[in-house]
Amino acid sequence: MTAVLITGAASGIGLAVAYRILNDGGHAVLLDTRPVDPDMLPPGSETRAILVEGSVTDPAACEYAVRAGIAAFGGLSGVSHNAGIQRYGTAADTDPELWNEVLSVNLTGAFNIARAALPQVLDARGAIVFMGSVQSLASQRNVAAYTASKHGLLGLVRSMAMDFAERGVRVNMVAPGAVQTPMLDWAVSLADAPDQVRDVLNGMHPLGRVARAEEVAAVVSFLLSDDASFITGETVRVDGGLLTQIAGTPKDPK
Ligand SMILES: NC(=O)c1ccc[n+]([C@@H]2O[C@H](COP(=O)([O-])OP(=O)(O)OC[C@H]3O[C@@H](n4cnc5c(N)ncnc54)[C@H](O)[C@@H]3O)[C@@H](O)[C@H]2O)c1
Repeated sequence: MTAVLITGAASGIGLAVAYRILNDGGHAVLLDTRPVDPDMLPPGSETRAILVEGSVTDPAACEYAVRAGIAAFGGLSGVSHNAGIQRYGTAADTDPELWNEVLSVNLTGAFNIARAALPQVLDARGAIVFMGSVQSLASQRNVAAYTASKHGLLGLVRSMAMDFAERGVRVNMVAPGAVQTPMLDWAVSLADAPDQVRDVLNGMHPLGRVARAEEVAAVVSFLLSDDASFITGETVRVDGGLLTQIAGTPKDPK
Protein backbone atom coordinates (compact mmCIF):
# COMPACT_ATOMS: atom_id res chain seq x y z
CA MET A 1 0.00 0.00 0.00
CA THR A 2 1.24 3.50 -0.84
CA ALA A 3 1.10 5.68 2.29
CA VAL A 4 3.23 8.82 2.08
CA LEU A 5 4.03 11.42 4.71
CA ILE A 6 4.05 14.74 2.83
CA THR A 7 5.40 17.94 4.40
CA GLY A 8 4.55 21.45 3.22
CA ALA A 9 1.30 19.94 1.96
CA ALA A 10 -0.88 23.05 2.35
CA SER A 11 0.57 24.93 -0.62
CA GLY A 12 2.47 24.82 -3.87
CA ILE A 13 4.58 21.78 -4.65
CA GLY A 14 3.67 19.86 -1.46
CA LEU A 15 -0.03 20.32 -2.20
CA ALA A 16 0.52 19.13 -5.77
CA VAL A 17 2.33 16.03 -4.46
CA ALA A 18 -0.55 15.37 -2.05
CA TYR A 19 -3.07 15.75 -4.87
CA ARG A 20 -1.09 13.41 -7.13
CA ILE A 21 -0.63 10.66 -4.52
CA LEU A 22 -4.28 10.78 -3.43
CA ASN A 23 -5.59 11.02 -6.99
CA ASP A 24 -3.60 7.88 -7.86
CA GLY A 25 -5.38 6.03 -5.01
CA GLY A 26 -2.62 6.35 -2.39
CA HIS A 27 -2.87 7.31 1.28
CA ALA A 28 -1.23 10.40 2.74
CA VAL A 29 -0.40 12.15 6.00
CA LEU A 30 -0.28 15.87 5.23
CA LEU A 31 1.91 17.90 7.61
CA ASP A 32 2.07 21.70 7.49
CA THR A 33 2.22 24.62 9.90
CA ARG A 34 -0.99 25.88 8.27
CA PRO A 35 -4.23 24.01 7.81
CA VAL A 36 -4.57 22.04 4.58
CA ASP A 37 -7.77 23.04 2.77
CA PRO A 38 -9.62 19.73 2.20
CA ASP A 39 -11.36 21.30 -0.83
CA MET A 40 -7.97 21.39 -2.57
CA LEU A 41 -7.68 17.57 -2.42
CA PRO A 42 -9.21 15.15 -4.95
CA PRO A 43 -12.93 14.61 -4.37
CA GLY A 44 -13.57 11.35 -2.51
CA SER A 45 -10.04 11.09 -1.09
CA GLU A 46 -10.98 12.34 2.43
CA THR A 47 -10.79 8.89 4.01
CA ARG A 48 -7.26 8.39 2.66
CA ALA A 49 -5.85 11.72 3.92
CA ILE A 50 -4.83 12.64 7.48
CA LEU A 51 -4.26 16.37 8.09
CA VAL A 52 -1.72 17.25 10.79
CA GLU A 53 -0.77 20.80 11.80
CA GLY A 54 2.80 21.09 13.03
CA SER A 55 6.29 22.19 12.12
CA VAL A 56 9.05 20.05 10.64
CA THR A 57 11.39 21.98 12.93
CA ASP A 58 9.78 20.17 15.88
CA PRO A 59 10.86 16.50 16.17
CA ALA A 60 7.81 15.77 18.35
CA ALA A 61 5.45 17.04 15.62
CA CYS A 62 7.21 14.84 13.07
CA GLU A 63 6.84 11.82 15.36
CA TYR A 64 3.18 12.69 15.93
CA ALA A 65 2.58 12.74 12.15
CA VAL A 66 4.25 9.33 11.81
CA ARG A 67 2.09 7.90 14.61
CA ALA A 68 -0.99 9.30 12.85
CA GLY A 69 0.04 7.41 9.71
CA ILE A 70 0.57 4.19 11.63
CA ALA A 71 -2.81 4.54 13.37
CA ALA A 72 -4.69 5.28 10.15
CA PHE A 73 -2.86 3.22 7.54
CA GLY A 74 -0.83 0.68 9.50
CA GLY A 75 2.48 2.29 8.44
CA LEU A 76 4.19 4.53 5.91
CA SER A 77 5.87 3.55 2.65
CA GLY A 78 7.37 6.92 1.80
CA VAL A 79 8.20 10.51 2.67
CA SER A 80 7.99 13.59 0.46
CA HIS A 81 9.60 16.56 2.22
CA ASN A 82 8.61 19.87 0.62
CA ALA A 83 8.31 22.26 3.57
CA GLY A 84 10.65 25.12 2.86
CA ILE A 85 11.16 28.84 3.15
CA GLN A 86 13.07 31.36 1.06
CA ARG A 87 14.89 34.30 2.66
CA TYR A 88 17.34 36.74 1.12
CA GLY A 89 20.77 37.99 2.16
CA THR A 90 24.50 37.59 1.63
CA ALA A 91 26.78 36.00 4.23
CA ALA A 92 27.64 39.58 5.26
CA ASP A 93 24.11 40.76 6.01
CA THR A 94 22.27 37.56 7.01
CA ASP A 95 21.77 37.69 10.75
CA PRO A 96 22.18 34.47 12.74
CA GLU A 97 18.44 34.22 13.54
CA LEU A 98 17.53 34.28 9.87
CA TRP A 99 20.30 31.77 9.06
CA ASN A 100 18.99 29.41 11.77
CA GLU A 101 15.38 29.85 10.63
CA VAL A 102 16.17 28.83 7.04
CA LEU A 103 18.45 25.95 8.01
CA SER A 104 15.99 24.65 10.61
CA VAL A 105 13.09 24.34 8.14
CA ASN A 106 14.86 23.44 4.90
CA LEU A 107 17.62 21.15 6.19
CA THR A 108 17.04 20.15 9.81
CA GLY A 109 13.33 19.74 8.96
CA ALA A 110 14.30 17.17 6.31
CA PHE A 111 16.43 15.34 8.87
CA ASN A 112 13.65 15.48 11.49
CA ILE A 113 10.95 14.08 9.22
CA ALA A 114 13.22 11.42 7.71
CA ARG A 115 14.44 10.34 11.15
CA ALA A 116 10.90 10.08 12.49
CA ALA A 117 9.62 8.09 9.50
CA LEU A 118 12.65 5.85 8.90
CA PRO A 119 11.52 2.88 11.02
CA GLN A 120 8.32 2.72 8.97
CA VAL A 121 10.04 3.32 5.64
CA LEU A 122 12.62 0.63 6.48
CA ASP A 123 9.83 -1.83 7.29
CA ALA A 124 8.19 -1.05 3.95
CA ARG A 125 11.51 -0.99 1.99
CA GLY A 126 10.14 2.33 0.78
CA ALA A 127 11.48 5.65 -0.49
CA ILE A 128 12.22 9.21 0.62
CA VAL A 129 12.25 12.25 -1.67
CA PHE A 130 13.57 15.63 -0.54
CA MET A 131 12.63 18.84 -2.34
CA GLY A 132 15.88 20.52 -3.28
CA SER A 133 16.31 23.22 -5.90
CA VAL A 134 18.62 24.19 -8.71
CA GLN A 135 20.14 26.05 -5.76
CA SER A 136 21.25 22.63 -4.45
CA LEU A 137 23.68 22.62 -7.38
CA ALA A 138 24.41 26.27 -8.17
CA SER A 139 23.59 29.68 -6.73
CA GLN A 140 22.12 33.06 -7.45
CA ARG A 141 23.27 36.12 -5.55
CA ASN A 142 21.87 37.18 -2.15
CA VAL A 143 20.57 33.74 -1.06
CA ALA A 144 23.36 32.51 1.23
CA ALA A 145 21.19 30.70 3.80
CA TYR A 146 18.77 29.23 1.23
CA THR A 147 21.53 27.94 -1.05
CA ALA A 148 23.47 26.53 1.91
CA SER A 149 20.35 24.73 3.14
CA LYS A 150 19.58 23.28 -0.30
CA HIS A 151 23.20 22.21 -0.86
CA GLY A 152 23.03 20.60 2.60
CA LEU A 153 20.12 18.48 1.38
CA LEU A 154 22.34 17.09 -1.35
CA GLY A 155 24.68 15.74 1.32
CA LEU A 156 21.80 14.36 3.38
CA VAL A 157 20.34 12.57 0.33
CA ARG A 158 23.66 11.00 -0.58
CA SER A 159 24.57 9.91 2.95
CA MET A 160 21.10 8.48 3.62
CA ALA A 161 21.11 6.70 0.26
CA MET A 162 24.37 4.99 1.26
CA ASP A 163 23.28 4.19 4.81
CA PHE A 164 19.98 2.53 3.88
CA ALA A 165 20.51 1.05 0.40
CA GLU A 166 21.33 -2.41 1.73
CA ARG A 167 18.04 -2.40 3.62
CA GLY A 168 16.08 -1.60 0.47
CA VAL A 169 15.30 2.07 1.12
CA ARG A 170 15.88 4.61 -1.68
CA VAL A 171 16.58 8.30 -1.00
CA ASN A 172 16.49 10.89 -3.79
CA MET A 173 16.12 14.61 -4.39
CA VAL A 174 14.18 16.67 -6.91
CA ALA A 175 15.76 19.96 -7.95
CA PRO A 176 13.29 22.32 -9.61
CA GLY A 177 14.00 25.60 -11.33
CA ALA A 178 11.35 28.27 -10.78
CA VAL A 179 7.90 26.80 -10.11
CA GLN A 180 4.59 28.68 -10.22
CA THR A 181 3.59 28.56 -6.52
CA PRO A 182 2.69 31.06 -3.78
CA MET A 183 6.39 31.11 -2.78
CA LEU A 184 7.34 32.29 -6.28
CA ASP A 185 4.50 34.87 -6.26
CA TRP A 186 5.84 36.21 -2.96
CA ALA A 187 9.42 36.38 -4.25
CA VAL A 188 8.32 38.16 -7.44
CA SER A 189 6.19 40.62 -5.43
CA LEU A 190 9.35 41.86 -3.64
CA ALA A 191 10.73 43.23 -6.93
CA ASP A 192 10.28 46.83 -8.09
CA ALA A 193 9.03 45.60 -11.48
CA PRO A 194 7.29 42.23 -10.92
CA ASP A 195 6.15 41.86 -14.56
CA GLN A 196 9.70 42.27 -15.80
CA VAL A 197 10.92 39.71 -13.27
CA ARG A 198 8.29 37.23 -14.51
CA ASP A 199 9.54 37.72 -18.08
CA VAL A 200 13.12 37.15 -16.95
CA LEU A 201 12.13 34.02 -15.01
CA ASN A 202 10.29 32.58 -18.00
CA GLY A 203 13.09 33.50 -20.41
CA MET A 204 15.93 32.06 -18.34
CA HIS A 205 14.50 28.53 -18.64
CA PRO A 206 15.31 27.14 -22.12
CA LEU A 207 11.76 25.71 -22.29
CA GLY A 208 10.59 29.33 -22.09
CA ARG A 209 8.49 29.23 -18.93
CA VAL A 210 8.53 28.35 -15.25
CA ALA A 211 7.30 24.91 -14.14
CA ARG A 212 3.83 23.97 -12.95
CA ALA A 213 3.77 22.38 -9.49
CA GLU A 214 2.13 19.27 -11.02
CA GLU A 215 5.19 18.74 -13.22
CA VAL A 216 7.39 18.57 -10.11
CA ALA A 217 4.86 16.36 -8.28
CA ALA A 218 4.92 13.88 -11.18
CA VAL A 219 8.66 13.35 -10.67
CA VAL A 220 8.26 12.99 -6.90
CA SER A 221 5.52 10.40 -7.50
CA PHE A 222 7.80 8.51 -9.90
CA LEU A 223 10.73 8.51 -7.45
CA LEU A 224 8.47 7.23 -4.67
CA SER A 225 7.13 4.44 -6.89
CA ASP A 226 8.54 1.03 -7.79
CA ASP A 227 9.12 2.34 -11.31
CA ALA A 228 12.18 4.04 -9.79
CA SER A 229 13.32 0.83 -8.05
CA PHE A 230 16.99 1.17 -9.16
CA ILE A 231 17.39 4.92 -8.50
CA THR A 232 18.93 6.08 -5.24
CA GLY A 233 21.22 8.92 -4.14
CA GLU A 234 20.12 10.79 -7.28
CA THR A 235 19.17 14.41 -7.86
CA VAL A 236 16.64 14.84 -10.65
CA ARG A 237 16.52 18.34 -12.09
CA VAL A 238 13.07 19.54 -13.13
CA ASP A 239 14.33 22.86 -14.44
CA GLY A 240 13.33 23.18 -18.10
CA GLY A 241 17.01 22.98 -19.05
CA LEU A 242 18.04 25.89 -16.80
CA LEU A 243 21.30 24.34 -15.55
CA THR A 244 22.05 22.69 -18.90
CA GLN A 245 22.44 26.02 -20.64
CA ILE A 246 25.78 27.86 -20.63
CA ALA A 247 25.05 31.32 -19.17
CA GLY A 248 24.80 33.98 -21.85
CA THR A 249 23.96 31.51 -24.65
CA PRO A 250 22.25 33.57 -27.37
CA LYS A 251 18.62 32.62 -28.09
CA ASP A 252 19.10 32.72 -31.86
CA PRO A 253 21.44 29.83 -32.84
CA LYS A 254 22.53 31.54 -36.11
N1 LIG B 1 8.55 27.66 -6.07
C1 LIG B 1 9.76 27.55 -6.56
O1 LIG B 1 10.15 28.26 -7.53
C2 LIG B 1 10.72 26.54 -5.98
C3 LIG B 1 11.87 26.23 -6.72
C4 LIG B 1 12.76 25.30 -6.24
C5 LIG B 1 12.52 24.67 -5.03
N2 LIG B 1 11.41 24.99 -4.32
C6 LIG B 1 11.21 24.30 -3.05
O2 LIG B 1 9.99 23.59 -3.09
C7 LIG B 1 9.47 23.49 -1.77
C8 LIG B 1 8.03 23.96 -1.77
O3 LIG B 1 8.01 25.32 -2.18
P1 LIG B 1 6.70 26.03 -2.74
O4 LIG B 1 7.14 26.90 -3.83
O5 LIG B 1 5.65 25.03 -2.95
O6 LIG B 1 6.38 26.98 -1.49
P2 LIG B 1 5.02 27.36 -0.77
O7 LIG B 1 5.37 28.52 0.11
O8 LIG B 1 3.93 27.52 -1.77
O9 LIG B 1 4.70 26.08 0.13
C9 LIG B 1 5.56 25.74 1.19
C10 LIG B 1 4.72 25.09 2.28
O10 LIG B 1 5.60 24.71 3.34
C11 LIG B 1 4.95 25.04 4.56
N3 LIG B 1 5.94 25.19 5.61
C12 LIG B 1 6.81 26.22 5.79
N4 LIG B 1 7.51 26.04 6.90
C13 LIG B 1 7.08 24.86 7.45
C14 LIG B 1 7.43 24.14 8.61
N5 LIG B 1 8.36 24.61 9.47
N6 LIG B 1 6.80 22.97 8.86
C15 LIG B 1 5.84 22.51 8.02
N7 LIG B 1 5.46 23.15 6.91
C16 LIG B 1 6.08 24.32 6.63
C17 LIG B 1 4.20 26.33 4.28
O11 LIG B 1 3.20 26.57 5.25
C18 LIG B 1 3.67 26.06 2.89
O12 LIG B 1 2.40 25.45 2.94
C19 LIG B 1 10.40 24.33 -0.88
O13 LIG B 1 11.30 23.46 -0.24
C20 LIG B 1 11.12 25.22 -1.86
O14 LIG B 1 12.39 25.60 -1.37
C21 LIG B 1 10.49 25.89 -4.77
